Amino acid sequence: MTRIMQARQNNFSSRFEKWNLETNRLSLLLEEKKPKGVKIFDLTESNPTAVGFDYPADDILRALAQPQILQYEPHPRGLLTTRQAVAEYYRRRGELVEPERIHLTVSTSEAYAFLFKLLADPGQNILVPQPSYPLFDFLAGLEGIELLPYRLDYDNARAEWRIDFASIAGAITEQTRAIIWVNPNNPTGSFIKREEAAQMRQICVTQHLALIVDEVFSDYAFLPPLNRKPSLVGENEMLTFVMSGLSKILGLPQMKLGWIIVNGPEKLRRQAQEYLELIADTYLSVSTPVQHAAPKWLELTTTLQEQIHLRVRANLLFLQTQLDDHPACRLLRAEGGWYAILQSADFVPEEDLILALLEKDNVLVHPGYFFDFAKEGFLIVSLLPPAEIFCEGVSRLLKRLV
Ligand SMILES: Cc1ncc(COP(=O)(O)O)c(C=O)c1O
Repeated sequence: MTRIMQARQNNFSSRFEKWNLETNRLSLLLEEKKPKGVKIFDLTESNPTAVGFDYPADDILRALAQPQILQYEPHPRGLLTTRQAVAEYYRRRGELVEPERIHLTVSTSEAYAFLFKLLADPGQNILVPQPSYPLFDFLAGLEGIELLPYRLDYDNARAEWRIDFASIAGAITEQTRAIIWVNPNNPTGSFIKREEAAQMRQICVTQHLALIVDEVFSDYAFLPPLNRKPSLVGENEMLTFVMSGLSKILGLPQMKLGWIIVNGPEKLRRQAQEYLELIADTYLSVSTPVQHAAPKWLELTTTLQEQIHLRVRANLLFLQTQLDDHPACRLLRAEGGWYAILQSADFVPEEDLILALLEKDNVLVHPGYFFDFAKEGFLIVSLLPPAEIFCEGVSRLLKRLV
């Protein structure tokens, strides 16, 4: 067999070699329980359509029944009327966004893929917060981009997460192209602080790095703004890409609509938008029916968010009251988002605990390592489940700890 033929023995791209795709012990255990009809108290549920919200079904469906959807008039940035409705959503939040700066995508995940293509060559790197959202590894890996972590640390005295800027300085290499910031971050729930935004701006400007800001949870704040930056849509000093979408804003991930807002120095911004158009034009992935329906859906923002806000806050309050003075674990303060983090030395090793919880108590939680925490000792719970699931799940979890 020739060397070339040997190399072709494996038909697939080497991208996949870095991931272990075998079913893990937790998933195996879950698979075992399912056919037995065991009720699972799932504290990882983050699908808003699966937790009993009362969606205004008629309004949502009626928005799709428009004659315009029969016409295909693709535009690489997306339909102007849809982009105007997105700009209007920001206007209601008190932020000025020009429709011209908005590029529609099918999701924030696709927006990441577009931005990685736009900003980096395979082999180059992008900085990501740690802990953060687990999908980054796949989004970057599929584009051949390397991710380098920078740290977020929980400041006990202030009871808030802070960026370790020394870890950013230490992580940047000649091959670094951009920094990702999640505002508020998943799962820490931490918003960008004003002084952090100023420091980040200085780093990006002096090092010629772009800033990618994921604001999918920015409507879900628990605390008044104080020193928080609710959004970076007004940032213009460096190339800045702010992303969001219907998945979290309206709790409608199945509708598949996200966007990127491009800001920055005029020449760079124009070039970025031209290249982004080329990428989007290659796929034209956002469907016409969704683009026509989105302006109507965005009018439902208040109705839908109210339910999510109420649920998340009620569950958080329950957790707080359960954990006040709990000897075994503490609740880290979140400023927003859909998650809560519990910390305890008793959670180490995390894997043993989450397996025991599922096996003996039928409670499913995420371990900290799933979100790439720098050390063990954390559990992450979603605040979305209905009260009866959430409260029983949390009670069982806390009983296991004493
Ligand atoms: C921080 C963050 N960004 C993006 C997404 C994905 O959003 P989309 O459904 O728009 O891809 C998620 C989903 O949980 C998320 O947690």
